[in-house]
Amino acid sequence: MLILGIETSCDETGIALYDTTQGLLSHTLYSQIDMHSEYGGVVPELASRDHIRRVLPLIEQALKAAERELHQVEAIAYTQGPGLAGALLVGASIGAALSFALNIPALGIHHLEGHLLSPLLSTPAPVFPFIALLVSGGHTQLMQVDAVGRYKLLGETVDDAAGEAFDKTAKLLGLGYPGGAALSKLARQGRPGKFKLPRPMLHSGDLNFSFSGLKTAVLTLIHKQEITGQTRADIALAFQDAVVEVLTEKSLAALSQSGLSQLVVAGGVGANEQLRQNLSAKAAQRGASVFYPALEFCTDNGAMIAFAGAMRLQVSGAKTWKPASSFTVNARWDLEMLETPES
Ligand code: KG4
Ligand code: ZN
Repeated sequence: MLILGIETSCDETGIALYDTTQGLLSHTLYSQIDMHSEYGGVVPELASRDHIRRVLPLIEQALKAAERELHQVEAIAYTQGPGLAGALLVGASIGAALSFALNIPALGIHHLEGHLLSPLLSTPAPVFPFIALLVSGGHTQLMQVDAVGRYKLLGETVDDAAGEAFDKTAKLLGLGYPGGAALSKLARQGRPGKFKLPRPMLHSGDLNFSFSGLKTAVLTLIHKQEITGQTRADIALAFQDAVVEVLTEKSLAALSQSGLSQLVVAGGVGANEQLRQNLSAKAAQRGASVFYPALEFCTDNGAMIAFAGAMRLQVSGAKTWKPASSFTVNARWDLEMLETPES
Protein backbone atom coordinates (compact mmCIF):
# COMPACT_ATOMS: atom_id res chain seq x y z
CA MET A 1 0.00 0.00 0.00
CA LEU A 2 1.39 3.42 -0.99
CA ILE A 3 0.99 6.20 1.61
CA LEU A 4 1.64 9.89 1.15
CA GLY A 5 2.78 11.61 4.36
CA ILE A 6 2.35 15.36 4.91
CA GLU A 7 3.97 17.23 7.82
CA THR A 8 3.29 20.95 8.34
CA SER A 9 3.01 21.36 12.12
CA CYS A 10 5.70 23.99 12.61
CA ASP A 11 8.46 25.38 10.41
CA GLU A 12 9.26 22.42 8.15
CA THR A 13 7.20 21.24 5.21
CA GLY A 14 7.89 17.51 4.96
CA ILE A 15 6.49 15.10 2.39
CA ALA A 16 7.16 11.37 1.98
CA LEU A 17 6.00 8.30 0.10
CA TYR A 18 6.06 5.09 2.11
CA ASP A 19 5.17 1.71 0.69
CA THR A 20 4.14 -0.98 3.17
CA THR A 21 6.10 -3.65 1.32
CA GLN A 22 8.97 -1.65 -0.17
CA GLY A 23 9.54 0.81 2.70
CA LEU A 24 10.36 4.49 2.31
CA LEU A 25 10.42 5.41 -1.39
CA SER A 26 11.17 9.13 -1.17
CA HIS A 27 10.97 12.15 1.07
CA THR A 28 11.29 15.87 0.49
CA LEU A 29 11.69 18.67 2.99
CA TYR A 30 11.74 22.42 3.05
CA SER A 31 12.93 24.12 6.21
CA GLN A 32 11.78 27.68 6.91
CA ILE A 33 14.57 28.24 9.45
CA ASP A 34 16.29 31.00 7.44
CA MET A 35 13.04 32.96 7.18
CA HIS A 36 12.28 32.74 10.92
CA SER A 37 15.84 33.19 12.20
CA GLU A 38 15.59 36.89 11.36
CA TYR A 39 12.88 37.14 14.07
CA GLY A 40 14.61 34.87 16.62
CA GLY A 41 11.75 32.37 16.57
CA VAL A 42 8.92 30.95 14.49
CA VAL A 43 6.38 33.53 13.27
CA PRO A 44 3.15 31.49 12.94
CA GLU A 45 1.52 33.49 10.14
CA LEU A 46 4.67 33.42 8.01
CA ALA A 47 4.96 29.68 8.66
CA SER A 48 1.41 28.98 7.38
CA ARG A 49 1.89 31.06 4.24
CA ASP A 50 5.16 29.36 3.43
CA HIS A 51 3.67 25.88 3.87
CA ILE A 52 1.04 26.87 1.27
CA ARG A 53 3.80 27.85 -1.16
CA ARG A 54 5.87 24.69 -0.64
CA VAL A 55 3.50 21.79 -0.13
CA LEU A 56 2.35 21.05 -3.71
CA PRO A 57 5.79 21.37 -5.36
CA LEU A 58 7.23 19.11 -2.64
CA ILE A 59 4.51 16.50 -3.27
CA GLU A 60 5.34 16.60 -6.99
CA GLN A 61 9.06 16.23 -6.24
CA ALA A 62 8.44 13.29 -3.89
CA LEU A 63 6.29 11.52 -6.50
CA LYS A 64 8.94 12.06 -9.15
CA ALA A 65 11.74 10.80 -6.90
CA ALA A 66 9.68 7.69 -6.09
CA GLU A 67 8.75 7.24 -9.77
CA ARG A 68 5.08 7.15 -8.87
CA GLU A 69 1.98 9.00 -10.11
CA LEU A 70 -0.50 10.70 -7.82
CA HIS A 71 -3.28 8.26 -8.77
CA GLN A 72 -1.15 5.39 -7.40
CA VAL A 73 -1.29 6.82 -3.86
CA GLU A 74 -3.61 4.64 -1.74
CA ALA A 75 -3.81 6.59 1.54
CA ILE A 76 -2.89 9.98 2.97
CA ALA A 77 -1.38 10.58 6.42
CA TYR A 78 -1.19 14.19 7.56
CA THR A 79 -0.15 15.77 10.85
CA GLN A 80 -3.33 16.69 12.71
CA GLY A 81 -1.56 18.14 15.77
CA PRO A 82 -0.12 19.27 18.06
CA GLY A 83 1.45 22.35 16.49
CA LEU A 84 0.64 25.78 15.11
CA ALA A 85 -3.05 25.82 14.14
CA GLY A 86 -2.58 27.74 10.87
CA ALA A 87 0.38 25.60 9.81
CA LEU A 88 -1.48 22.37 10.63
CA LEU A 89 -4.47 23.54 8.62
CA VAL A 90 -2.38 23.67 5.45
CA GLY A 91 -1.36 20.01 5.62
CA ALA A 92 -4.77 18.88 6.85
CA SER A 93 -6.67 20.68 4.09
CA ILE A 94 -4.35 19.42 1.34
CA GLY A 95 -4.49 15.91 2.82
CA ALA A 96 -8.27 15.93 3.08
CA ALA A 97 -8.70 17.40 -0.42
CA LEU A 98 -6.44 14.75 -1.98
CA SER A 99 -8.22 12.01 -0.04
CA PHE A 100 -11.60 13.24 -1.25
CA ALA A 101 -10.46 13.70 -4.84
CA LEU A 102 -8.67 10.35 -5.07
CA ASN A 103 -11.33 8.54 -2.98
CA ILE A 104 -8.70 7.11 -0.64
CA PRO A 105 -8.48 7.07 3.19
CA ALA A 106 -7.08 10.05 5.12
CA LEU A 107 -5.52 9.64 8.55
CA GLY A 108 -4.82 12.51 10.93
CA ILE A 109 -1.57 11.65 12.72
CA HIS A 110 -0.29 12.87 16.08
CA HIS A 111 3.06 14.60 15.44
CA LEU A 112 4.67 13.04 18.51
CA GLU A 113 3.50 9.57 17.50
CA GLY A 114 5.43 10.21 14.28
CA HIS A 115 8.57 11.06 16.30
CA LEU A 116 8.04 8.09 18.64
CA LEU A 117 7.76 5.56 15.84
CA SER A 118 10.51 7.10 13.64
CA PRO A 119 13.31 4.81 14.98
CA LEU A 120 11.30 1.90 13.52
CA LEU A 121 12.22 3.24 10.08
CA SER A 122 15.85 2.21 10.70
CA THR A 123 17.42 -1.21 11.07
CA PRO A 124 17.82 -2.78 13.53
CA ALA A 125 14.45 -1.56 14.76
CA PRO A 126 13.19 -1.86 18.33
CA VAL A 127 10.25 -4.16 19.07
CA PHE A 128 7.31 -3.29 21.33
CA PRO A 129 7.30 -2.65 24.26
CA PHE A 130 9.99 0.01 24.70
CA ILE A 131 10.71 3.25 26.51
CA ALA A 132 10.84 6.41 24.43
CA LEU A 133 12.62 9.62 25.29
CA LEU A 134 10.93 12.36 23.27
CA VAL A 135 13.12 15.44 23.17
CA SER A 136 12.03 18.14 20.76
CA GLY A 137 11.71 21.91 20.72
CA GLY A 138 8.30 21.74 22.40
CA HIS A 139 8.36 18.47 24.36
CA THR A 140 10.47 16.49 26.79
CA GLN A 141 8.73 13.30 27.78
CA LEU A 142 9.48 9.75 28.81
CA MET A 143 6.84 7.37 27.51
CA GLN A 144 6.25 3.66 27.70
CA VAL A 145 5.27 2.46 24.24
CA ASP A 146 3.41 -0.86 24.37
CA ALA A 147 1.98 -0.83 20.83
CA VAL A 148 0.86 1.61 18.14
CA GLY A 149 -1.51 3.99 19.96
CA ARG A 150 -0.71 2.63 23.43
CA TYR A 151 1.43 5.24 25.12
CA LYS A 152 1.86 5.78 28.84
CA LEU A 153 3.41 9.01 30.06
CA LEU A 154 6.06 8.29 32.71
CA GLY A 155 7.45 11.79 33.15
CA GLU A 156 7.82 15.14 31.43
CA THR A 157 9.25 18.60 31.81
CA VAL A 158 7.54 20.87 34.30
CA ASP A 159 8.70 23.98 32.40
CA ASP A 160 10.94 24.39 29.30
CA ALA A 161 11.51 21.54 26.87
CA ALA A 162 15.10 20.38 26.37
CA GLY A 163 15.19 21.80 22.82
CA GLU A 164 13.77 25.08 24.06
CA ALA A 165 16.54 25.23 26.70
CA PHE A 166 19.14 24.59 23.99
CA ASP A 167 17.61 27.35 21.86
CA LYS A 168 17.38 29.90 24.70
CA THR A 169 20.91 29.18 25.89
CA ALA A 170 22.22 29.38 22.34
CA LYS A 171 20.62 32.83 22.08
CA LEU A 172 22.37 33.91 25.29
CA LEU A 173 25.64 32.77 23.75
CA GLY A 174 24.96 34.82 20.63
CA LEU A 175 24.16 31.88 18.36
CA GLY A 176 21.31 31.97 15.82
CA TYR A 177 17.88 30.37 15.97
CA PRO A 178 17.24 27.50 16.45
CA GLY A 179 20.52 27.12 18.26
CA GLY A 180 20.63 23.46 19.40
CA ALA A 181 22.91 22.21 16.65
CA ALA A 182 25.10 25.36 16.74
CA LEU A 183 25.49 25.14 20.53
CA SER A 184 26.46 21.51 20.26
CA LYS A 185 29.07 22.39 17.60
CA LEU A 186 30.49 25.15 19.81
CA ALA A 187 30.62 22.76 22.79
CA ARG A 188 33.13 20.60 20.90
CA GLN A 189 35.71 23.35 21.53
CA GLY A 190 34.79 23.59 25.23
CA ARG A 191 37.22 22.52 27.96
CA PRO A 192 35.70 19.77 30.13
CA GLY A 193 35.06 20.69 33.78
CA LYS A 194 35.80 24.42 33.33
CA PHE A 195 32.32 25.31 34.61
CA LYS A 196 29.78 23.21 36.47
CA LEU A 197 26.07 23.91 36.11
CA PRO A 198 23.25 22.42 38.23
CA ARG A 199 21.55 19.16 37.28
CA PRO A 200 17.89 20.17 37.78
CA MET A 201 15.63 17.53 39.33
CA LEU A 202 18.29 14.82 38.98
CA HIS A 203 17.37 13.48 42.42
CA SER A 204 13.67 14.37 42.39
CA GLY A 205 12.73 10.69 42.71
CA ASP A 206 10.38 10.87 39.73
CA LEU A 207 10.84 10.96 35.97
CA ASN A 208 10.09 14.65 35.51
CA PHE A 209 12.48 17.29 34.19
CA SER A 210 13.02 21.02 34.60
CA PHE A 211 15.22 23.04 32.28
CA SER A 212 14.21 26.68 32.73
CA GLY A 213 16.62 27.21 35.67
CA LEU A 214 19.57 26.18 33.55
CA LYS A 215 19.36 29.15 31.21
CA THR A 216 19.24 31.45 34.27
CA ALA A 217 22.35 29.70 35.60
CA VAL A 218 24.02 30.27 32.21
CA LEU A 219 23.03 33.93 32.29
CA THR A 220 24.55 34.34 35.77
CA LEU A 221 27.73 32.66 34.53
CA ILE A 222 27.90 34.97 31.51
CA HIS A 223 27.58 38.05 33.75
CA LYS A 224 30.41 36.83 36.01
CA GLN A 225 32.97 36.18 33.26
CA GLU A 226 34.84 38.05 30.69
CA ILE A 227 33.32 36.43 27.62
CA THR A 228 35.88 35.25 25.11
CA GLY A 229 35.44 32.73 22.33
CA GLN A 230 36.87 30.08 24.62
CA THR A 231 34.62 30.82 27.61
CA ARG A 232 31.58 30.73 25.32
CA ALA A 233 32.61 27.25 24.22
CA ASP A 234 33.27 26.23 27.86
CA ILE A 235 29.80 27.42 28.89
CA ALA A 236 28.19 25.64 25.93
CA LEU A 237 29.88 22.41 27.01
CA ALA A 238 28.89 22.88 30.67
CA PHE A 239 25.27 23.42 29.59
CA GLN A 240 25.26 20.40 27.30
CA ASP A 241 26.87 18.24 30.03
CA ALA A 242 24.07 19.18 32.44
CA VAL A 243 21.22 18.47 29.99
CA VAL A 244 22.79 15.24 28.75
CA GLU A 245 23.39 13.93 32.28
CA VAL A 246 19.80 14.59 33.39
CA LEU A 247 18.27 13.12 30.20
CA THR A 248 20.52 10.05 30.47
CA GLU A 249 19.92 9.35 34.17
CA LYS A 250 16.15 9.74 33.92
CA SER A 251 16.00 7.53 30.82
CA LEU A 252 17.97 4.82 32.61
CA ALA A 253 15.66 5.15 35.63
CA ALA A 254 12.65 4.70 33.32
CA LEU A 255 14.23 1.50 31.96
CA SER A 256 14.86 0.17 35.49
CA GLN A 257 11.39 1.05 36.77
CA SER A 258 9.63 -0.54 33.80
CA GLY A 259 11.93 -3.56 33.56
CA LEU A 260 12.31 -2.90 29.82
CA SER A 261 15.62 -3.05 27.98
CA GLN A 262 15.06 -0.96 24.84
CA LEU A 263 15.18 2.81 24.73
CA VAL A 264 14.15 4.83 21.71
CA VAL A 265 15.26 8.47 21.38
CA ALA A 266 13.17 10.74 19.19
CA GLY A 267 12.83 14.45 18.39
CA GLY A 268 15.32 17.13 17.35
CA VAL A 269 17.54 16.96 20.46
CA GLY A 270 18.01 13.27 19.63
CA ALA A 271 20.43 14.52 16.94
CA ASN A 272 22.80 15.61 19.72
CA GLU A 273 26.01 13.64 19.45
CA GLN A 274 26.98 13.84 23.13
CA LEU A 275 23.52 12.64 24.18
CA ARG A 276 23.77 9.71 21.78
CA GLN A 277 27.22 8.69 22.95
CA ASN A 278 26.41 9.01 26.63
CA LEU A 279 23.07 7.21 26.43
CA SER A 280 24.44 4.34 24.35
CA ALA A 281 27.46 3.83 26.62
CA LYS A 282 25.49 3.96 29.88
CA ALA A 283 22.66 1.79 28.57
CA ALA A 284 25.13 -0.81 27.30
CA GLN A 285 26.62 -1.07 30.82
CA ARG A 286 23.19 -2.23 31.97
CA GLY A 287 22.59 -4.56 29.06
CA ALA A 288 20.05 -2.22 27.44
CA SER A 289 20.03 -0.99 23.84
CA VAL A 290 19.29 2.46 22.48
CA PHE A 291 17.67 3.08 19.10
CA TYR A 292 17.83 6.37 17.22
CA PRO A 293 16.14 7.54 14.08
CA ALA A 294 18.48 8.35 11.20
CA LEU A 295 19.79 11.90 11.74
CA GLU A 296 17.60 13.31 8.95
CA PHE A 297 14.49 11.88 10.69
CA CYS A 298 15.29 13.30 14.16
CA THR A 299 13.92 16.71 13.31
CA ASP A 300 10.49 17.20 11.72
CA ASN A 301 9.92 15.32 8.48
CA GLY A 302 7.22 13.71 6.35
CA ALA A 303 8.65 10.18 6.53
CA MET A 304 7.69 9.70 10.18
CA ILE A 305 4.11 10.81 9.44
CA ALA A 306 3.75 8.50 6.41
CA PHE A 307 5.22 5.67 8.51
CA ALA A 308 2.89 6.27 11.49
CA GLY A 309 0.00 6.24 9.01
CA ALA A 310 1.25 2.96 7.55
CA MET A 311 1.50 1.37 11.01
CA ARG A 312 -2.05 2.42 11.87
CA LEU A 313 -3.40 1.16 8.54
CA GLN A 314 -1.61 -2.14 8.97
CA VAL A 315 -3.08 -2.74 12.43
CA SER A 316 -6.64 -1.87 11.50
CA GLY A 317 -6.83 -2.76 7.81
CA ALA A 318 -7.37 -0.05 5.21
CA LYS A 319 -11.10 -0.76 4.89
CA THR A 320 -11.91 0.78 8.28
CA TRP A 321 -10.59 4.17 7.08
CA LYS A 322 -12.66 6.44 4.89
CA PRO A 323 -11.95 9.28 2.46
CA ALA A 324 -12.11 12.62 4.25
CA SER A 325 -15.38 14.52 4.07
CA SER A 326 -14.13 17.06 6.61
CA PHE A 327 -11.01 17.64 8.68
CA THR A 328 -9.95 19.06 11.97
CA VAL A 329 -6.64 20.01 13.57
CA ASN A 330 -5.64 19.89 17.26
CA ALA A 331 -3.12 22.59 18.14
CA ARG A 332 -2.93 20.94 21.58
CA TRP A 333 -3.26 17.20 21.78
CA ASP A 334 -2.35 14.81 24.56
CA LEU A 335 -0.54 11.72 23.24
CA GLU A 336 -2.11 9.48 25.91
CA MET A 337 -5.56 10.37 24.53
CA LEU A 338 -4.78 8.62 21.23
CA GLU A 339 -6.82 5.59 20.41
CA THR A 340 -5.28 2.26 19.56
CA PRO A 341 -6.27 1.37 16.00
CA GLU A 342 -8.92 -1.38 16.00
CA SER A 343 -7.69 -4.60 14.48
O1 KG4 B 1 11.67 17.73 16.74
P1 KG4 B 1 12.04 19.08 16.24
O2 KG4 B 1 12.57 19.20 14.84
O3 KG4 B 1 10.87 20.08 16.29
C1 KG4 B 1 9.88 20.08 17.24
O4 KG4 B 1 8.91 19.31 17.04
O5 KG4 B 1 10.07 20.82 18.21
O6 KG4 B 1 13.13 19.65 17.30
C2 KG4 B 1 13.71 20.90 17.16
C3 KG4 B 1 14.62 21.14 18.35
C4 KG4 B 1 15.16 22.55 18.41
O7 KG4 B 1 14.97 23.04 19.72
C5 KG4 B 1 16.65 22.38 18.09
O8 KG4 B 1 17.48 23.37 18.67
C6 KG4 B 1 16.93 21.03 18.65
O9 KG4 B 1 15.76 20.26 18.31
N1 KG4 B 1 18.13 20.41 18.06
C7 KG4 B 1 19.23 20.09 18.78
C8 KG4 B 1 20.18 19.54 17.86
N2 KG4 B 1 19.61 19.56 16.61
C9 KG4 B 1 18.35 20.09 16.75
N3 KG4 B 1 19.49 20.20 20.09
C10 KG4 B 1 20.69 19.78 20.52
N4 KG4 B 1 21.64 19.26 19.73
C11 KG4 B 1 21.44 19.13 18.40
N5 KG4 B 1 22.40 18.60 17.61
ZN1 ZN C 1 8.76 17.63 16.01
